[in-house]
Amino acid sequence: MISTERVVIVGAGLGGLYAALMLAPRPVLIISPETLGEGASSTWAQGGVAAAMSKDDSPEAHARDTIAAGAGTVDQEIAALVTGMAQAHILDLTDHGTPFDRDNAGNYILNHEAAHSIARVVRVKGDQAGRKIMETLIAAVRAAPSVQVLERVVAQGLMVEDGCVTGIRLAQITGERVSKPVDLNAPAVLLAGGGSGGLFALTTNPPRIRGQVMGLAARAGAVMADMEFVQFHPTAMDVGLDPAPLATEALRGEGARLVNSDGVNFMDTEHPQAELAPRDIVARAVFAQTQAGKRPMLDTRAAIGVEIFTRFPAVAEACRKAGIDPAHDPIPVAAAAHYHMGGVATDAQGRSSLAGLWVCGEAASTGLHGANRLASNGVLEALVFARRAAGDIAATLTTVDAAPVDLKFAEGGISLDANAVAELRNIMTSLVGVRRTGEGLTRAIERIKSLNAAQSDCADFANMCATALLIATAALHRRESRGAQWRDDFPSSDPALAQRSRLTLTEAYDLTEDVS
Ligand code: SIN
Repeated sequence: MISTERVVIVGAGLGGLYAALMLAPRPVLIISPETLGEGASSTWAQGGVAAAMSKDDSPEAHARDTIAAGAGTVDQEIAALVTGMAQAHILDLTDHGTPFDRDNAGNYILNHEAAHSIARVVRVKGDQAGRKIMETLIAAVRAAPSVQVLERVVAQGLMVEDGCVTGIRLAQITGERVSKPVDLNAPAVLLAGGGSGGLFALTTNPPRIRGQVMGLAARAGAVMADMEFVQFHPTAMDVGLDPAPLATEALRGEGARLVNSDGVNFMDTEHPQAELAPRDIVARAVFAQTQAGKRPMLDTRAAIGVEIFTRFPAVAEACRKAGIDPAHDPIPVAAAAHYHMGGVATDAQGRSSLAGLWVCGEAASTGLHGANRLASNGVLEALVFARRAAGDIAATLTTVDAAPVDLKFAEGGISLDANAVAELRNIMTSLVGVRRTGEGLTRAIERIKSLNAAQSDCADFANMCATALLIATAALHRRESRGAQWRDDFPSSDPALAQRSRLTLTEAYDLTEDVS
């Protein structure tokens, strides 16, 4: 067993990097499955950061929109806390060098996204916010003497003694091959390893984001919250790529229309806000068009035209790679798993139910998002809770210096079974996707358990299966439709169920013991 006095941060997206900087000069070890900046959902975030920056806006209005979009289960104190800190975080990122779009008078240029009552999303070069914020933070982390980064290393499990996390099990990855693990004792562990979108066959998330980090916390006994609430993005590009490139919601904020193969603007009859209705409503409408064989498409031609190439370079580049010219043709779209509102249950300091374990970013469920996240609140939440968790961890530390960690990974280990992963992802998309039924969820649980049992020696796959089982079980036991959870067999919301759900992995197994 190796020991360190460094705080271990699992994940190198925006939450992990920001927390490492906030902890400085206290020593930190960041565990990153890839080279910094690669493979993190944050780098792919196109929209930007929601923050009340204009004189016509306020944190209170932002909190109201967050609560309304969340469909009855947002924690109102958390919404007030997060929206109240948004402006300070934008100014801090600006000080760190993030080149947010500004007008000649220095005002932040704001995008309008769905279910916001006002343009409120701070952006960089149209759709480059995630990439540019990450570049800024990576440069700061690389220059910070207190931060050690281990790249191409993954966390596989947590060591727990008497309900307290004492360390972490790590392994090195080479392609899909995982080395034998090494256990590392540490004074504190912060999980910031992203969501679960890649557990679904159709997703906008980077390939490695498959619920592993949530799953390892669940397998260690952490309480999970709101696991049934997975957000599907309505305008993933349907161009045969895995992952599916995103066509940012900001395009609809600029007037792009959804149209089907009959030429019908189908959102006109779905909701008074049409294309800017809450994301769950637009996603279900797009899904219905796909199911009906009426190929849904995003038409940017009239509203944006050739300016798409300069104003939305990431979307334009994805179109180019897919052989689509968005100035001449609409972009085929589909609803794809995009963001997990659920995750490890945390309090206002980012503490999990296990002592010694903090969580921030998409892996956490703070109560901000409720049943349906308001667009561009994800990056904001990661910033706010990275800082709060860092402050809380710092208060528990006694040392301010530590030697670099030197881990020797032994040859051997195993490879993930690509067929098993593909099957798991297909189960999630077909049976735990945009529209669910009790019968389909029960079948999914049965198949997840049997896949898990067949791969019992692979910790990474066990972590994925734990998250998948928790999603399906929570969805089965929420016998209503609310926000992103749609049940064909319970199509209404039940006011008595307007509350967050909490579940441990042991409880999920107990609740489904008759399904095997
Ligand atoms: C988008 O740009 O459409 C996605 C933004 C988000 O998921 O918050």
